[in-house]
Amino acid sequence: MGVREVALSAASVFTAPYQPQDYLRLVNRLSSARQLRGVVRSVTPECSGSVTITFRPGRGWHAHEAGQYARIGVEIDGVRQWRSYSLSAPAGEDPAITVTAVGRVSSHLVQHTKVGDILFLAPPQGDFVLPTGPRPLLMLTAGSGITPVMSMIRTLVPRRPDADVVLIHSARTSQDALFRDELARLAAEHESLHVVHRYTGTDGRIDLTTPADLDRLCPDWRSRKAYVCGPAQLLDDATAMWHEHHAPDALSVERFETALLADGGSGGHVVFEKSDKEADGDGSTTLLELGEDAGVLMPHGCRMGICRSCLVPLRAGQVKDLRTGEIRADEGDLIQTCISAPCGPVHLDV
Ligand SMILES: Cc1cc2nc3c(=O)[nH]c(=O)nc-3n(C[C@H](O)[C@H](O)[C@H](O)COP(=O)(O)OP(=O)(O)OC[C@H]3O[C@@H](n4cnc5c(N)ncnc54)[C@H](O)[C@@H]3O)c2cc1C
Ligand code: FES
Repeated sequence: MGVREVALSAASVFTAPYQPQDYLRLVNRLSSARQLRGVVRSVTPECSGSVTITFRPGRGWHAHEAGQYARIGVEIDGVRQWRSYSLSAPAGEDPAITVTAVGRVSSHLVQHTKVGDILFLAPPQGDFVLPTGPRPLLMLTAGSGITPVMSMIRTLVPRRPDADVVLIHSARTSQDALFRDELARLAAEHESLHVVHRYTGTDGRIDLTTPADLDRLCPDWRSRKAYVCGPAQLLDDATAMWHEHHAPDALSVERFETALLADGGSGGHVVFEKSDKEADGDGSTTLLELGEDAGVLMPHGCRMGICRSCLVPLRAGQVKDLRTGEIRADEGDLIQTCISAPCGPVHLDV
């Protein structure tokens, strides 16, 4: 028996029922100088169409703060796709994401992720986090927008008897309400948490265009620091209402998607020069989507105009920023392809 075999045989006392080689293989799969990775430790079905995926990250990751998100990469048909997901686990525990199947990548994660799979990762980020000192809180969430707030509740409520949290969560039906049983248990165990569920299928949506609904559901809402996460309309209405009827700095919002102009660019023919591919855009489809559909390896991250991972130099033509309507037309301009559409013929250096 060689030295390596003797060492492995001795180590097996500590690693049974697994072989030491199993652990070495895992460590190797997570160690890459170039790309941070994590191994999936559990996949738990939530309500219909959602799962929670817990993973153990490799070196290069740092502990998340409750409410932060991470970029997650998965390979689909040989192409690495990145999306952002809030970390739903409490601070101090292994990270987890709770994914709802709505499109290509989320459906892949929900349907195909298994224990032992490797996820590509970027470290946690974001400033949708708990206040530094104790304050009464109002959490206003809808659908999958509850995920970052669940991390905050899991972190705060069991550990801080002086917490004071009101959660108002909207879902279509009670069966669609993420974390419903856990929230009911936490609220029963801790007076510091008060949970209101609003089922839009029967109760209708919360109207945030006036304070009337909030005055009824949480009469002291003006004395609370508010966190809102959900569909764009909910966030837009909340932002306008806090501006008009309270103080904007008492509100934090987290967006899962970007509001783009209904009236896009004029559209045009796009040439992806380095990839030798072409596509015709309709003016509201982004350059990122056009490139991906044409088979171009387009760099991307958040897909919503935040991270700037999707920058590509403009070689010729005009593009429109679909958030602001601004036109970019200078050769060499770095274009955020995830929020830009062609206005006439465009050449991109990708
Ligand atoms: C900071 C941040 C945190 C996020 N956290 C979560 C999370 O915890 N859980 C989660 O499931 N998703 C989360 N998302 C959304 C996620 O990144 C993807 O956008 C989503 O999974 C759709 O990707 P897809 O490839 O499946 O669909 P695509 O094919 O890329 O898009 C399908 C359509 O779905 C829209 N969409 C995006 N998110 C949602 C949603 N939640 N509900 C309905 N429509 C949506 C997109 O605008 C697009 O029009 C988060 C996004 C951001 C930016
Ligand atoms: S992908 Fe993040 S800004 Fe475009």
